[in-house]
Amino acid sequence: MALMADSSEWKSVRRGRGGARKGKLSQLEKTQAPESVDRERDKRRITEAINELKCEDFWPEWKEIFSGCLAETVDKTVEGTDCIMECICYGLGNFSSCVSARYQLAMLLLLLEALQIHVGWCSLYDPVFTVSECETLRELGFAVLIENEEGKRAVCHPTLFYLMHCGKALYNNLLWKNWSPQILPKVTIIGNSFLGIQERMLQRELERDYRFLSDVTNVCEETSLPCSQRFLDVFNDTALIRFPLNKLHQLPKSMWDEPSEPQYEHCQDLEIIQRVKEPK
Ligand SMILES: C[S@@+](CC[C@H](N)C(=O)[O-])C[C@H]1O[C@@H](n2cnc3c(N)ncnc32)[C@H](O)[C@@H]1O
Repeated sequence: MALMADSSEWKSVRRGRGGARKGKLSQLEKTQAPESVDRERDKRRITEAINELKCEDFWPEWKEIFSGCLAETVDKTVEGTDCIMECICYGLGNFSSCVSARYQLAMLLLLLEALQIHVGWCSLYDPVFTVSECETLRELGFAVLIENEEGKRAVCHPTLFYLMHCGKALYNNLLWKNWSPQILPKVTIIGNSFLGIQERMLQRELERDYRFLSDVTNVCEETSLPCSQRFLDVFNDTALIRFPLNKLHQLPKSMWDEPSEPQYEHCQDLEIIQRVKEPK
């Protein structure tokens, strides 16, 4: 089964003739391995989630905000990689068993379509993904990363990061890896509001543990993304975050000097899963 968008609706497209009626297993499904039946079910649920989100009043608002953002970030007039946008999604969670993660995945597919980013240009990683979830994502056309980057991905062309309800260290690592006024404008984040994080934390702890997040919060551009009461758990505190060059220049020059890699020695609760260290 593949997911296909026509102008109005996402459809589950069953290959071959006929389809299973609700609640009954088709002949095909009876002969399929249980994992592949699970994946078919997951893809059906993702399609349903997409169609539900499309009926929400906040979806056209998101679409408008994003179309404006893409027009500003991606330079269609140049040749080469600056005219396309890549997407990286970290920390989606178990979308097969968790409804919030499933709606977030559905939203990701809608956004890619709206922004005309090819699904194959979107890579995902979450250390909790099951083998079956990785397979479902591949069947949907995504690239699944196999390495835990801890968010430390160096950007070289415009990149959209989709980090829904992720740990602060993931944002901080991403900022550290791209800590330069030339590179940060290429980074666009959909994730937890940085201002919200700042409000909920003691300033001295934010500065000590998440220096890059702390330094950039007052010079980034945040557009909060609306959502309905029904989807509060799924999309609350979500914002589109960008780093315009003219604002980054407000930071003292010394702030950009040789940033040292975050260590998180004092963090009691790091909220992210770190890479397994190679034995020396
Ligand atoms: C608070 S959960 C959010 C899950 C889901 N997005 C939601 O809103 O329900 C944070 C997610 O980040 C993932 N995560 C932790 N460390 C990570 C890493 N190094 N790279 C990518 N994702 C990571 C966790 O496995 C978890 O699924």
